Amino acid sequence: KLYGENYRPQFHFTPERNWMNDPNGLVFYKGQYHLFYQYNPFANVWGHMSWGHAVSKDLIHWKQLPVALEEENGIMIFSGSAVVDTKNSSGLGSIQNPPLVAIYTGSTDTLQTQNLAYSTDNGLQWAKYKSNPVLNENKKDFRDPNVFWYAPEKKWIMSLSYPTTHQIAFYSSVNLRDWKQVGIFGPAGDTTGVWECPDLMRVPIYDQPGSYKWVLLTSQNATMQYFVGNFDGKNFTSETPNGTTLKPDYGTDYYAAIAYHSNPIGKPVSIGWVNNWYYANQIPTYPWKGAASLPRTLQLKKINDVWQLIQQPVAALATLRKQPVIYANKKINKTTELLPFKGNVWEGEIIMQPATTGETGLQLAVGNGLALNISYNAAAKQLVINRNNTPDYFSAAFAARPTSIAPVRLLNNELKLQVFFDKSIVEVFVNNGEQVLTVQVFPAEENNGVALYSTGENALFKRVTFWPMKSIW
Ligand code: FRU
Repeated sequence: KLYGENYRPQFHFTPERNWMNDPNGLVFYKGQYHLFYQYNPFANVWGHMSWGHAVSKDLIHWKQLPVALEEENGIMIFSGSAVVDTKNSSGLGSIQNPPLVAIYTGSTDTLQTQNLAYSTDNGLQWAKYKSNPVLNENKKDFRDPNVFWYAPEKKWIMSLSYPTTHQIAFYSSVNLRDWKQVGIFGPAGDTTGVWECPDLMRVPIYDQPGSYKWVLLTSQNATMQYFVGNFDGKNFTSETPNGTTLKPDYGTDYYAAIAYHSNPIGKPVSIGWVNNWYYANQIPTYPWKGAASLPRTLQLKKINDVWQLIQQPVAALATLRKQPVIYANKKINKTTELLPFKGNVWEGEIIMQPATTGETGLQLAVGNGLALNISYNAAAKQLVINRNNTPDYFSAAFAARPTSIAPVRLLNNELKLQVFFDKSIVEVFVNNGEQVLTVQVFPAEENNGVALYSTGENALFKRVTFWPMKSIW
C-alpha cells in the first residue's frame, strides 16, 4: 500500500513514487503553499531532473500534483525559485491575472543557464518562456537562481551560485527577463564543497518586532551554512565573525533548504531536503527516495554576541498530536531505563538536567540490541546523535557518517529537546530552535522502544512528553 511501506514517513512530505532532491520554487499563492522539488519522473534514483509538484493549505497536509516542468531536448530542469509577478512586470500574464513565474537552471553536461517558465492557472500548468535562456554566461557550473522582490528599489533580485569558486552573485531586473550583475559575495566561511542553492532573505529579529537583518543561506556538498548581515540592493555584507561557521542544521541529512516567497506568516518558512549526496541514491526506500524536512519558521537572535537563526517547526504541526504520554521527575543514575511508551511516529519534548559528567539523553528505535542515541555530552557541551548502532548495510558512505554534533548551551542547567521521529527521519530542535539536527535512520519496524539514559550521576528528566502523531496520508 502506498505510504504504508517500510520507512515511509507519515508526517513529512515524500513523493508517491520515485526520486526527489531539493525543494524548488517555494511560493504561496491564493491560499496554497506550492512545493516544487527536483524530481525524476522515471526512476527511484537521480536523473531526468524535472520539477515535481505538491500543494498544501497548512504546510502539513500535501496533495500530490502532476509534474510541473519536464526535461526537454536533453536539458534538465535544475533547482530554482518561483515568484508571484503581481504587476505583470514580465508580461507573461496580465494585471487581472498575474502570472506565477519560475526561474530555474537549464542544465546539460556542458552548460548551465537561467530560464523562465510561467503559469496563469494558479500553478497547475506551466509553459517555458519562448526566448529562454534569460541569463547565459557560457559556464558549466552556474546555477540555482533564487529571485525575490526588493521593495526599496522596486526591482527583482536574483541570487545565483558560482559553485566552484564558492561565490554567490546578485543580479537585478525590472521584468524578470533582462538581468545584470550588481554584486558578488564570497568565497567565505565553509568553502570545502561546491556552493549551491543560495537564498537571500530578510529575517525578523526574535524579540524586536519590526526589526530585521538579512540572511544568506547556502549549501555545500552535503551540509549547509548561513551568514547574517545586510543587503543594500547590490551587495550582501556579512556580520558573521570570520572563522565562525553557522549551520542551519547540524545533522547528516539536511540540504538545499530555501524559504517560501510571499508567505502570510510574517516570518520566512524554510524547507530542506532530508538526505545526503554521499549516499542519497543508496538509501533503502522504495518506491520513493528523498523527503522534505518539516517546514520551519526563521527568526534571528543574538547568542554569545553572534546573530543566529532560531528555527521552529511550523505551529500547524501540533494539529497532528494525539493524546500525550507524560513522565515527570525521573532520576536516572548511570543507567538506561526503557519506557512503557513505544512508537515510530511521534513528537517528543524532553526537559532535562543532564548529569555533569558523561552523556545524558534518550534512545529511540530501541529493540534487538539496536538503538539510536540522542544525548548531551557534558564535557564537550554538545548534543550528539549517534546512529552507529542502527542498520547501515546499504551504504559504506552512510556507515562512515554515524554521528551528528551540535554545540549547545544549558539554560539554568537545563536542556530542552523537541524531537520528531517519523519512521526513518529524526529532527531534533534544541532549546526552542537554537540548533537543529536532522538525520535519517533505518530501523526495523518492530524496534520501536524508547529509553532514557545517563552514563553520569543523578541526571534529572523533569518532564518528558510523547505525542503519537496522526498520519497526513
Ligand atoms: C543541489 C543540486 C543543485 C542542482 C540540483 C540538481 O542538491 O546539486 O545545485 O540544481 O541539485 O538536481
